[in-house]
Amino acid sequence: MSSNFSFYDKPGFIWLDGQFLPWKDSKLHVLTHALHYGSAVYEGCRAYNGRVFKLNEHIQRLHKSAEFLGYKIPYSVKILNQATKKLLFKNNLQEAYVRPIAWYDVDSLSLGAKAEQVHVAIAAWVWKSYFKLDDKFEKGLKLTWADWVRPAPNMSPYQAKAAGLYVISTLSKRSAEQKEFNDALMLDYRGYIAECTGANVFFVKNGDLHTPIPDCFLNGITRQTIIEIAKKMSINVIERYIKPEEVNDMDEMFLTGTAAEITPVTQIGETKVPIGPISKKIAKAYEILVRNCPCPEK
Ligand SMILES: Cc1ncc(COP(=O)(O)O)c(C=O)c1O
Repeated sequence: MSSNFSFYDKPGFIWLDGQFLPWKDSKLHVLTHALHYGSAVYEGCRAYNGRVFKLNEHIQRLHKSAEFLGYKIPYSVKILNQATKKLLFKNNLQEAYVRPIAWYDVDSLSLGAKAEQVHVAIAAWVWKSYFKLDDKFEKGLKLTWADWVRPAPNMSPYQAKAAGLYVISTLSKRSAEQKEFNDALMLDYRGYIAECTGANVFFVKNGDLHTPIPDCFLNGITRQTIIEIAKKMSINVIERYIKPEEVNDMDEMFLTGTAAEITPVTQIGETKVPIGPISKKIAKAYEILVRNCPCPEK
């Protein structure tokens, strides 16, 4: 079956189960379990100067996500790390977004159908600015409040990057964009601030960093990196429950994520927030780290 979407017909290769296939030939069956029930797990990584930042951590998380969903990825972390590096080389990519994804074949469409054969694909392409901002430190992001909330920990396997969990993110993001906001800030099931649709959130208040406790949403690799960076800079990091009305008293706010990187927020609903020096300092340190990180070969 052919498609007219140029996203499905790019030059270059996609790694699929050990082979480098031409981009347009990496296809799967319409009865794939993940297409119906959201059982794929995936990662989002970024390469800087030809090297993927924290590749090993991302591929380990891919393996863990599959375990949360009850299946095992048949390629070791080492093999997938090597495949990613070869893919970047083969596609001649230095600055790229990398998307590994795993799913499985079944012999029926029963919800509980056993994973008969697990597949992995890795695609990489240039995806410069996730938020389509020319200069993110000039304008910052406009956020609205999401209509959907992050469910309780016993309502979804929230530590997994599983395709099915992203339905409330895609609905919230699309609705925000339709209202001419860049993204939506999601509350959790208790009414505390959780995260954005695909990024974690930090606030600055009186020189300290405040960030929600990730007990019902993804504890992002970038979030963890920013906490380490802040501690090295002797910036106090406070992980706590944050009420939505507190945004009115915050000095700065920014989002963190592999795709989003460090992006300042200048508006949430009606509340305006300035772009401040701590966000800029942390973003600068992150940029230096991702571009110089020795990231040992594993
Ligand atoms: C829902 C959600 N939260 C947070 C993040 C940030 O995670 P990371 O920093 O590991 O990219 C992402 C991005 O993958 C995400 O999809």
